[in-house]
Amino acid sequence: MPPFMPFDPLRPFNDLPDLPPTVELESRAILKQAIASNRVLADLRGLARQIPNQAMLINGLVLQEARLSSEIENIVTTNDELYRADADANGNTDSPTKEVLRYRQALYHGFRALKARPLATNLFIEIARMIKEVELDIRKVPGTALQTPSGKVIYTPPVGEGLIRDKLHNLECFIHARDGLDPLIKMAVTHYQFEAIHPFEDGNGRTGRILNVLLLVDQGLLDIPVLFLSGYIMANKGGYYDGLRGVTERQDWESWILYMLKAVEVTAGETFNKVQRIHELMERVRELVSREAPGIYSKDLIEAIFRHPYTKIQFLVDAGLAKRQTASAYLQTLAGMGVLRASKHGREMYYINDGLLTELVR
Ligand SMILES: Nc1ncnc2c1ncn2[C@@H]1O[C@H](COP(=O)(O)OP(=O)(O)O)[C@@H](O)[C@H]1O
Ligand SMILES: [Mg+2]
Repeated sequence: MPPFMPFDPLRPFNDLPDLPPTVELESRAILKQAIASNRVLADLRGLARQIPNQAMLINGLVLQEARLSSEIENIVTTNDELYRADADANGNTDSPTKEVLRYRQALYHGFRALKARPLATNLFIEIARMIKEVELDIRKVPGTALQTPSGKVIYTPPVGEGLIRDKLHNLECFIHARDGLDPLIKMAVTHYQFEAIHPFEDGNGRTGRILNVLLLVDQGLLDIPVLFLSGYIMANKGGYYDGLRGVTERQDWESWILYMLKAVEVTAGETFNKVQRIHELMERVRELVSREAPGIYSKDLIEAIFRHPYTKIQFLVDAGLAKRQTASAYLQTLAGMGVLRASKHGREMYYINDGLLTELVR
């Protein structure tokens, strides 16, 4: 877009420039921040590698990300509702909570898919469909616009399926280019571009945030999805929206990239501490149970009660630990020791791991 033509939020932004951006991305400030962010992220990856049962660790982190990323879009559930739904296989919960659980499912789907195929338009569509549970597709008709809560239009994305697909193709090429660009900078640029293209009628914010972590895995910065920025974005919302607008309106890539890199540094540090504390907690519980209740102790039992913040008898049965009655006795023993807290909801009994819960939501 020529500089003399001011940005018009009401006009579809069909002039969205292709990637890579023509401005310098690797400024001194950006490179300095990238070094700090990469260092903390590498520490987190190293720590995650040492945790024996990674699947167990990820579940709690991913659920929190699903909740927070949805909350950015005003799809709100409580931790209690969410963890109860996580424990109930029957899907008996309210509609925002279902949408949050679908976000988790979409994230896992993307993670698994990456092992077999590239991060590309088809996968973007699958992720958005899974979140929204509708057969949505690339936008074919005009009418999508981003508004403030008071209804003021702040951005109108490009219009025309062909153009949108071209822009997505250009984004794919950028993602997979062997250009030596720091992967964290690549993630920041990709997130802006995806949101600016805004390929779907809805679900773009959440799909774009899932792509962030998938890109880090794809670029080899993480082995498993453990870095989630939605908590930081929620706490620093102004910077997120201003940063996106700054690129569109003033080609201010630097502020945007710095925002995202800072988000990575802060979040990776917090997640590192969180993972470490959860691991220590689990070791303490393991030690306590093996000493005080050797008759019920097994490594698998401890892992089972750390896999979900809310445990049900059925989980122990499913894990092959015991038959129903014995499993129930195990959980009651753990509750008696203060390791879990029994909590009845309707006719269901949940055994809540408060220690784990505290770490996950803090
Ligand atoms: N000025 C902007 N330009 C481009 N994208 C934006 C802008 N402001 C916000 N966004 C992105 O749009 C998302 C909201 O789009 P939407 O399709 O409703 O996502 P979701 O359905 O996940 O709620 C925000 O989370 C943000 O990522
Ligand atoms: Mg939305």
